[in-house]
Amino acid sequence: MTTVCAAAIDDMVLQVAVGAAAGFALARALARQGSRAAPGDGGDGKARGDGGVRVDDDDDKDAARNAAAGSKKPVVVYMDGCFDCMHYGHANALRQAKACGDVLIVGVVNDAEIKRCKGPPVCDEAERIEMVQACKWVDGVIGDVPYEVTDEFTDELFAKHGVDYVVHGDDPCLLPDGTDAYAYPKRIGRYKEIKRTEGVSTTDILGRLLRVGRKAAGETLEAAEVKEATFCTTSSRIAQFGSRTSVPVDGKVVYVSGAFDVFNRGHVEILRKAKELGDFVLVGVHTDADVRARCGDEHPVLNEKERALSVLSCRYADEVVIGAPAKITNDLLTTFNVSIVVAEDEDEYLIDGEDVNALAKARGLYRVVERAHGASVAGVAQKIMANRAEFEARNARKAKSESAYYATKKTVAET
Ligand code: CTP
Repeated sequence: MTTVCAAAIDDMVLQVAVGAAAGFALARALARQGSRAAPGDGGDGKARGDGGVRVDDDDDKDAARNAAAGSKKPVVVYMDGCFDCMHYGHANALRQAKACGDVLIVGVVNDAEIKRCKGPPVCDEAERIEMVQACKWVDGVIGDVPYEVTDEFTDELFAKHGVDYVVHGDDPCLLPDGTDAYAYPKRIGRYKEIKRTEGVSTTDILGRLLRVGRKAAGETLEAAEVKEATFCTTSSRIAQFGSRTSVPVDGKVVYVSGAFDVFNRGHVEILRKAKELGDFVLVGVHTDADVRARCGDEHPVLNEKERALSVLSCRYADEVVIGAPAKITNDLLTTFNVSIVVAEDEDEYLIDGEDVNALAKARGLYRVVERAHGASVAGVAQKIMANRAEFEARNARKAKSESAYYATKKTVAET
């Protein structure tokens, strides 16, 4: 592992302590760094290379609560992973990891290692890093870390980067030789386990996207192939992800609405731009029925509660209306004190021939922002179809190891 980022992480830890004591927000830091090794599905290994570290700002008060109480060093926790097609299961892992300490640093595995150990990633490393950084519980990201977590890499995390605990989900993480990837931090009492979120995985989402791609390519899907989402959304999960602030009466509320299906960097970008325009970003997540009517039978890939959780995990979203009406109404604008309605520069969205944003336009509240990445569900599905054989093989392997996990799983308390 290279050590280019060491100073940045050390700075970050220092700044959390000093900043909190002085009442300042945690400063941003940027740097580059190296490798590690983690477990794999089905006995493969993960490995990681050279990448970037970024520290973010928004949850700094949270991150520094220990330091605020005195001069105590904040507890730094580290979690790594692939975070491919970043979903609310990953976000929930990061939420639990953050609750194990004060500062959460996340290692993101590089593309070559994922390809070697699991099969091709859907999203490249830059996008995966961007998505992890956008998660509201993350304080810093280290890119290009190895899949296989060596003792050496772990020591470097402890000694040079001030990491106190390594955290991972309760799914088995095995090295290619079948041994536990986290044996070392476990042995020395510096490992914490969080509960894996059941009912969602990259494998599952990839399977759903493959079906979208096949349908678009004119294939007829067997009824047995169409799988409903198995994730059970509870009120406590929504509360854990949700904001604790209500829509401000005095502040400038910016409203953004859409499907937010298979949450991606394009979604993050419009939310970030919305945040720049006001004080509070309220996100309307359209109903499954609306998305289906607009995009076709295979849509949405994720149901409205799953889509809402992904949006809520984003640092730029303050509140979500789950199952918002696609058409902007007077009631919606008034209830939520909306000052600005933001949309991307795409085609008009018409329902029964009427522009859903007509009222916002008529009132001069409508603002258009440039579409940043052109990311779309159809585009991701096409990308997967272009490498269909590889993705199908990856999913078959992963589905096997996921079944093994579910067969032997135990109950682990959530943090
Ligand atoms: N994770 C989780 N719940 C899920 C999926 C992942 O808690 N449903 C956790 C993993 O246990 C790990 C972290 O998220 O600590 C990163 O997981 P990652 O390496 O990206 O991949 P997988 O564990 O293979 O999960 P997935 O197939 O969904 O990518």
